[in-house]
Amino acid sequence: MKPNFTRRTFIATAGAAALATSLARSAEETSKGKSVKILGIACSPRKGMTTARAVQTALDAVKSVDARIAVELIDLGGLSIAGWSPTPPRDDFDAILPKLRDPKLGGLIIGSPVYFRSLSSLCKAFIERCMPLREGAMLLTDKPVGALAVAGGRNGGQELVVQQILTAMLSYGMVPVGGKSPAMLGGTLWNNAKDDLSQDEPGLKSAKLLGAHVAEVALKLLKNR
Ligand SMILES: Cc1cc2nc3c(=O)[nH]c(=O)nc-3n(C[C@H](O)[C@H](O)[C@H](O)COP(=O)(O)O)c2cc1C
Repeated sequence: MKPNFTRRTFIATAGAAALATSLARSAEETSKGKSVKILGIACSPRKGMTTARAVQTALDAVKSVDARIAVELIDLGGLSIAGWSPTPPRDDFDAILPKLRDPKLGGLIIGSPVYFRSLSSLCKAFIERCMPLREGAMLLTDKPVGALAVAGGRNGGQELVVQQILTAMLSYGMVPVGGKSPAMLGGTLWNNAKDDLSQDEPGLKSAKLLGAHVAEVALKLLKNR
């Protein structure tokens, strides 16, 4: 008679048990007060448009990993944020900086529209203005960062922009995190239907995989804090 508990079922059962234990541990960490917050930064001047929706999609996926991870979308659309200058400008970034200094900050997901195969100037300004976080305690260091980009073309420069954002955030000591197969680099979305991203199923999937991966890495790093 064939044994009905094969090597394969053993491995599957053990894998499921390990995953359950790991999720239970992360739940324990969050309930112990070691909570974590993932901020999504949408860097299009057009408030609430495709970039903001893509970042929100990634944040929804963060919550599906562990509902106790807090998330917040910071939509830079309509805000006035200048690039870095030796005399710090007084503008809308002043209200954002404290959120980045929050000790509960566990990671970032930064999204930009593709502008001329590059990140938006608003995204660049945001990254430059994080400069105070490089001083002293280097508050962003060892925290995961994921990136996504939305373009009007199928091959409009999304991958270039994701790389630009991740490379820049290395300067803050952040840990670049991609999505999961097949979206290893991060979120790459195609605004192919007049600002309606629902037509771009693979792109939305890449944003979800990115959010899930950033959440998982944030939880793992939380245990070591
Ligand atoms: C100034 C400007 C430059 C753009 N450059 C590109 C580009 O190089 N490649 C591309 O595919 N789409 C380009 N687009 C299209 C946007 O990336 C696309 O519409 C995106 O969805 C806009 O994001 P939003 O809806 O969040 O504003 C450009 C749009 C603007 C306004």
